[in-house]
Amino acid sequence: MKIAIFNIHSWEKEYLETANAGKNTLKMLDAYLNIDTVKLAEGCEAISIFTEDDASAPVLDKLHELGVRFVAFRSAGFNNIDAAHAQKIGIRMVRVPEYSPNAIAEFTVAVMLALNRKLIRSHYRIMQMDFSLDGLVGFDMNNKTVGIIGAGKIGRVVAKILHGFGCKLLVYDIVEDPFLIKEYGIEYTDLDTLCKQSDIITLHVPLVEDTHHIIYKKRIASMKKGVMLINAGRGALVHTQDVIDALKSGQIGYFGMDVYEEEKGLYFEDHSEDILQDDIMARLMTFKNVLISSHQAFLTDTALKNIARITFENLECIEKGGTCINEICVK
Ligand code: NAI
Repeated sequence: MKIAIFNIHSWEKEYLETANAGKNTLKMLDAYLNIDTVKLAEGCEAISIFTEDDASAPVLDKLHELGVRFVAFRSAGFNNIDAAHAQKIGIRMVRVPEYSPNAIAEFTVAVMLALNRKLIRSHYRIMQMDFSLDGLVGFDMNNKTVGIIGAGKIGRVVAKILHGFGCKLLVYDIVEDPFLIKEYGIEYTDLDTLCKQSDIITLHVPLVEDTHHIIYKKRIASMKKGVMLINAGRGALVHTQDVIDALKSGQIGYFGMDVYEEEKGLYFEDHSEDILQDDIMARLMTFKNVLISSHQAFLTDTALKNIARITFENLECIEKGGTCINEICVK
């Protein structure tokens, strides 16, 4: 099969080539998929895309016209495709629902520790030959209350790791899992109680209508003063301007941000020669207690190997006409 791989990143190219093992003809494209670039898929039966590509209805219609029959996401999330329209015009879609929950969970905890123990500040200080410890006091994780919003594949690994630290774990989720209660001593609670009682709050719910801006002004006001907030879920789970206001007042004491509502066109790319146009990002970059990463939580060797392998397995499966467990179906 001939597959156009849109929006290829240098860090995934080798993994895709290895997983493909010469079976398919790959057309590696730097371009994002959108209405202007869609014609690059000409002659391909399948395309593969990532979270920032635009697979809206007009783009899908053009793909269909070009003879593309399959869209393979190299990600779990697929909110950038008009899935109902794709289904209607007969384009089948597949994704990688799970590639390494550990990768994201471990990164989440790394951010918690880096913020708590002020590791980035201390590193920069030492690079300036300043070996003082003033302003670097952290806190023990042991006995702290951590609120996990969403304990699915990723959130449960966060719970497992933090249980090992001796944290008290509160979870807000629409589904309760008795295993987590038994194994890690978690306590399911409502969102208000979680916000009121937690020293650290971490977000691992998908971005859906109910979770859009789940963290906003009123909810932040109900949290403990100086709370640590970590978002390695999706940018729009938090109202970023409300978080900035709370950082200014000290209501939020630490903010770890791996995802950003306006990350499209900014993240994953080198903008070091550009003038930053995003004033919200510019303000976030001024806080010493904010740790920003560029949607990096998933980026491990294990995750990249799995993404590449599952992407080609998915395509092989639907090409044969069978059912594929990773197919995106709209009811
Ligand atoms: P999952 O589907 O296994 O778990 C999500 C959990 O959220 C489930 O337990 C579900 O019951 C719960 N949930 C869903 N809607 C809810 C609601 N309205 N209120 C409360 N709980 C709700 O998903 P997984 O694999 O744990 O991933 C979670 C999110 O992490 C993804 O949706 C994605 O946005 C994000 N993610 C971030 C990555 C990164 O690199 N930063 C990489 C991969 C995923």
